[in-house]
Amino acid sequence: MLQMEGMCLYFLVVILVMVLSVQSQGGLRPGFYSSSCPKAEVVVRSTVTSHFNKDPTVAPGLLRLHFHDCFVQGCDGSVLIAGSSAERNALPNLGLRGFEVIDDAKTQLEALCPGVVSCADILALAARDAVDLSDGPSWKVPTGRRDGRVSSSSQASNLPSPLDSVAVQRQKFAAKGLDDHDLVTLVGAHTIGQTDCLFFRYRLYNFTKTGSADPTINQSFLAQLQTLCPNGGDGSKRVALDIDSQTDFDVSFFKNVRDGKGVLESDQRLWGDSATRSVVENYAGTIRGLLGLRFDHEFPKAMIKMSSIEVKTGRDGEIRKICSKFN
Ligand code: HEM
Repeated sequence: MLQMEGMCLYFLVVILVMVLSVQSQGGLRPGFYSSSCPKAEVVVRSTVTSHFNKDPTVAPGLLRLHFHDCFVQGCDGSVLIAGSSAERNALPNLGLRGFEVIDDAKTQLEALCPGVVSCADILALAARDAVDLSDGPSWKVPTGRRDGRVSSSSQASNLPSPLDSVAVQRQKFAAKGLDDHDLVTLVGAHTIGQTDCLFFRYRLYNFTKTGSADPTINQSFLAQLQTLCPNGGDGSKRVALDIDSQTDFDVSFFKNVRDGKGVLESDQRLWGDSATRSVVENYAGTIRGLLGLRFDHEFPKAMIKMSSIEVKTGRDGEIRKICSKFN
């Protein structure tokens, strides 16, 4: 009997040690700041809202900022560091927007609970709030990320490019633990926001030196895009990625890809590969009942996966005082 009690005690201690060690590794969990800074999420939300009310284009800006942060060195706020050789100054990052929103939230949070809330978490929360404010889904963001101590422009060269084939997109996402379903779901973020003409104009006039346009572009849409981005015109002119529905977080992006109205080449290519096409078809409602997955249910799950890429937790990294500077 005594031996039995001893065994139970032993197992209890083992379980306790296991639980404590998981906690000390500081894995992400929703509500990480509920006792250390209970207003953290409310402050981020109100900051994003006030910027959004002045300029709704900050919403797509913040969502893309979080994606670019996560794909280089993990979601650790490395993209927020300022400096000529920092990640933020790499070519694919030059158009990123929304830094001032993160800085604003950080200033308020440092006044409220100094040294507690990481910039990486502020970014993950702001991306969620940006989607919610664009009439998209909302979700509980697991928090507890720490900020990285490295930010180098040379490491950003492997970010996905609008010229990437599906094979390359697949390989870049797989390298971050994301499959075809995650890829198509996450690229669905292009349901909001805009692109410079520069990133797709080559498709409209002399595509792959053929002297004509990319044949996968819908003919009436081609004329529309050519009017928006004349040959030799201003490459920095902005065009909606989801034509006619750029402020609503909805499934029209997928319908556009199905109909040959994807603006970026990488987006339109998702229709040319059987695996990615079936996910696009599903969200566009073409194959009702086959996969039957809803974009507004799947997007939060894919975001939680993306937001967990190579995160620093526990004693790794630091909690920056200013998001654009290492401590
Ligand atoms: C194969 C993957 C991807 C490629 C090649 C790609 C490429 C691009 C490009 C070229 C732009 C236009 C940038 C500009 O002119 O300012 C853009 C915009 C955008 N991207 Fe992506 N993207 C990809 C995946 C994603 C993912 C996974 C997300 C988020 C989860 C995302 C969110 C956005 C948003 C919201 C915008 C609009 C930004 C704005 O209006 O400021 N993208 N993307």
